[in-house]
Amino acid sequence: MTAADFIDRQKLPKHIAIIMDGNGRWARAQGMKRIFGHREGVRAVRECAEACAELKIPYLTLYAFSAENWSRPKEEVNALMHLLVDTVTSEMDTFKRNNIRLNAFGALNDLPDYCRRGLSNAMNETAHHTGLTLNLALSYSARNELVNVVRTLAERVQSGNLKPEDIDAEQIAASTYTSGMPDPELMIRTSGEQRISNFLLWQLAYAELYFTPVMWPDFKKEHLYQAISEYLTRERRFGKTGEQIQKF
Ligand code: FPP
Repeated sequence: MTAADFIDRQKLPKHIAIIMDGNGRWARAQGMKRIFGHREGVRAVRECAEACAELKIPYLTLYAFSAENWSRPKEEVNALMHLLVDTVTSEMDTFKRNNIRLNAFGALNDLPDYCRRGLSNAMNETAHHTGLTLNLALSYSARNELVNVVRTLAERVQSGNLKPEDIDAEQIAASTYTSGMPDPELMIRTSGEQRISNFLLWQLAYAELYFTPVMWPDFKKEHLYQAISEYLTRERRFGKTGEQIQKF
């Protein structure tokens, strides 16, 4: 019996977001290059995607490469780009077996051509899958995303297609990368860091935050189940009182 058997499936989050942190430190601690940690991190990606698919969680979003990550040493950036394409290609069996649809968002035009092509092939090949949507946030910055949202809405106002007084939270959400998806109810960050780091600032407004000291390459299905179990014990009040929530 695993921790998954104790999870109340009715109340599972519909969207989990993860900041996969600690690859570099994990590798360094073993006297290896940082990229070794990223490579080992792929197993954790596979385990989490499979676990979410098995639990029938509709969306999993992974912070795979931030806009700020471009300033890392060239060698690491190159290795990460290749690892990304190699992984989405070599994991096609995992996607098929688990009915996983791959999706990517962020400033994708900043990615090298071969990377965009590889991602696009994998997305096309899994487009008909109806289980978990696996979002990869790439060259992603939540502030840049919000700047783009503001620009899009401003252009619609300028062209007369939108009145300023009609701009509301729904209009904004509809212009984000996650349009049409539920907001993440649970955000996990590994490696002991306790920050949001420019990740899904709009979408995480009401998310439960879960921080664990486990380094990403060590993160297993059991750790995900622990995070979900902890989420299930939290009372989500959305500004209401505890008594009001009990009535529902
Ligand atoms: C953060 O650890 C991790 C990343 C910037 C990259 C994550 C990439 C992977 C797990 C590999 C492939 C991913 C997919 C989705 C195929 P860090 O390097 O910042 O670690 P540190 O804080 O210890 O330096």
